[in-house]
Amino acid sequence: MNDTILQRNVARIFHPTVQTGMTPEHRVRPLIPSGDTKATDPFLLLMEDWFPRGVFDRHPHRGMETVTYVIDGRLDHYDNYGNQGSLLPGNVQWMTAGRGIIHNEQPPDGVTVHSLQLWVNLPAAAKMVEPRTQNLVAADLPLRREQGVEIRVFSGKSGDVIAPTKNYTPVTMLEVRLEPGARIRQELPADYNAFLIVLDGAGFAGGEQSPVHAGDVVWLTRTDEVGLSEVNIAAQASPLRVLLFAGRPLREPVVAEGPFVMNTEQQIRQAYIDYRQGRFEPSTR
Ligand code: CO
Repeated sequence: MNDTILQRNVARIFHPTVQTGMTPEHRVRPLIPSGDTKATDPFLLLMEDWFPRGVFDRHPHRGMETVTYVIDGRLDHYDNYGNQGSLLPGNVQWMTAGRGIIHNEQPPDGVTVHSLQLWVNLPAAAKMVEPRTQNLVAADLPLRREQGVEIRVFSGKSGDVIAPTKNYTPVTMLEVRLEPGARIRQELPADYNAFLIVLDGAGFAGGEQSPVHAGDVVWLTRTDEVGLSEVNIAAQASPLRVLLFAGRPLREPVVAEGPFVMNTEQQIRQAYIDYRQGRFEPSTR
C-alpha cells in the first residue's frame, strides 16, 4: 500500500491567440488544438468560440462526446433525436454522439455567443452506444463549499460532493470559484490527464504555485500509476474562476476525420457510408 498523495505541478501553460474562424464574424481560440491525442488523451480538442447565428450548419458526430459550456450569450440547440433547448451562461450540454447524431447549435438572432466546446473521446467499447444528451443546469448540480471557495461539480467529484452526470469515459469537470486570497486542494486520480482553463482573475496553481492568468490553459503533471493526487489552486487579489477538467486516458488508437472519431480507417469509411445512407436517424436503431 502506498498512500502518498502525488502533488500535481504545472507541466505547461498555453495562451492561444484569437483567430478568425469559419466566417469573418466567427472568432476562435484553439485551447486544445486537435491532433495531439497522445498528450491530451482522453480529450480530443477544446475550442473557445465567439459566433453569431448562421456560422454553423447542422452536422453529424460519431464515436465521441461534446461538452459545451456557455460563457456569455445564449446557445439554442436541437438534434435529430428530438432534443432541443437553450443553454444559458454557466450551463453545460454533455452530448454523447455514440453511433451517430445530427445536431446544430447556434445563438438567437442578434446575439454573439461566447462558448467553450470540449471533445471527449469514447472508449472503443462505447463508440456505437445509443446517443445521449445530458443538459447540466448549474443551479441543479451539487455545490461544494469551503472557506472562500465554491466548486460546482459538473462531472465526477470534489471532496464528498458527487455529480449525477453519467460518463462512459471517466471525466471530472469542475467550475471552481475562489474569493481573493482563498485556496483549495482538489483531489484527482493520479493517472488522469488534467488541465485548468482560467476564465477570470489571476492566481496560482500546482505544488510549486505557478502564476496563472485569465485565458491560460494550464496542463498539470500526471503519472501512469494508479493512486491519488491533488492540485492546489489559489486566488490572488481578485476573485478567480477556473474550469478544471481531468480524465482517464483511454490509450487506444485514434482515427479522426471531421466530426467522426473512431479507432480504425475502416470505421471512418463506415461512418461516412452510414451517414449518407441515413443510419444516423433514431428510426434505424
Ligand atoms: Co457538433
